[in-house]
Amino acid sequence: MPIMDPILNNPISEGDWVRESGFGRWFLTTDTWFRYVLSEAVCDLKQLLDNRIHGTHQILDAGCGQGVAFELLEEHFHPRTIIGVDIDKEQMRMALEMANRCQCEVKLESGTVCNLNIPDSSIDMIFSHQLFHHVSDQARALEEFYRILMPGGAILISESCRSFIHSFLVRLLFRHPMHVQKTAEEYVELVQSIGFKIDDTDIQTSRPWWSCEDYGVRERIGLPHKQQEVTQILMIARKPS
Ligand SMILES: C[S@@+](CC[C@H](N)C(=O)[O-])C[C@H]1O[C@@H](n2cnc3c(N)ncnc32)[C@H](O)[C@@H]1O
Repeated sequence: MPIMDPILNNPISEGDWVRESGFGRWFLTTDTWFRYVLSEAVCDLKQLLDNRIHGTHQILDAGCGQGVAFELLEEHFHPRTIIGVDIDKEQMRMALEMANRCQCEVKLESGTVCNLNIPDSSIDMIFSHQLFHHVSDQARALEEFYRILMPGGAILISESCRSFIHSFLVRLLFRHPMHVQKTAEEYVELVQSIGFKIDDTDIQTSRPWWSCEDYGVRERIGLPHKQQEVTQILMIARKPS
């Protein structure tokens, strides 16, 4: 029996995967996504990482979607190989085009992050951008990430929190497994429960303008903005050496 979205009365869970809406898939191709969501997250995560990983030979782009992060990962982390994995075959077809633009080797695999065809302790860094709020079995995905990371390796996580995913417009336009959404604190607890190490300085929480109910308009025109929960968490989670 599928779980139904209480607002839209749509089925929200089919097995392990809730396919994104057409609008959501289109949004991933926009300049707004690339400039204000993805590129900013890559820069902020790089700053949080603070050069603690030397020589990123293999990066996994987990839930790579259309591969729009490949060139950014190459530019910022200079890997020898990027492995892009996504469950949505249609997105992977578009990722192939982005892979061809890279100088480094890019391998693409279609499938779930809950069961990766990647050897143990073989990956230096995992880039997980806006993935977990799409994954029904988040703990299983994190166990897989722990398995494939080398000791001392890290996941760079950028995630949207429950307050944003549960907001009316997001429910209207996008599709997610609603029963697994988490607050920032709950994401930190989950990642730590798998064995990853996260210090206070590895975490950054925020409310980017695109995640605010008024899209940051009140702040831009100088009005006090409404008290709102954290909508976004960035964190560096390290597998102990
Ligand atoms: C919001 S998109 C982000 C895409 C990409 N990381 C980016 O920033 O452009 C989330 C992606 O996760 C993928 N996804 C959802 N569940 C997945 C799973 N269990 N395994 C692999 N990919 C998954 C979706 O198909 C989608 O491409």
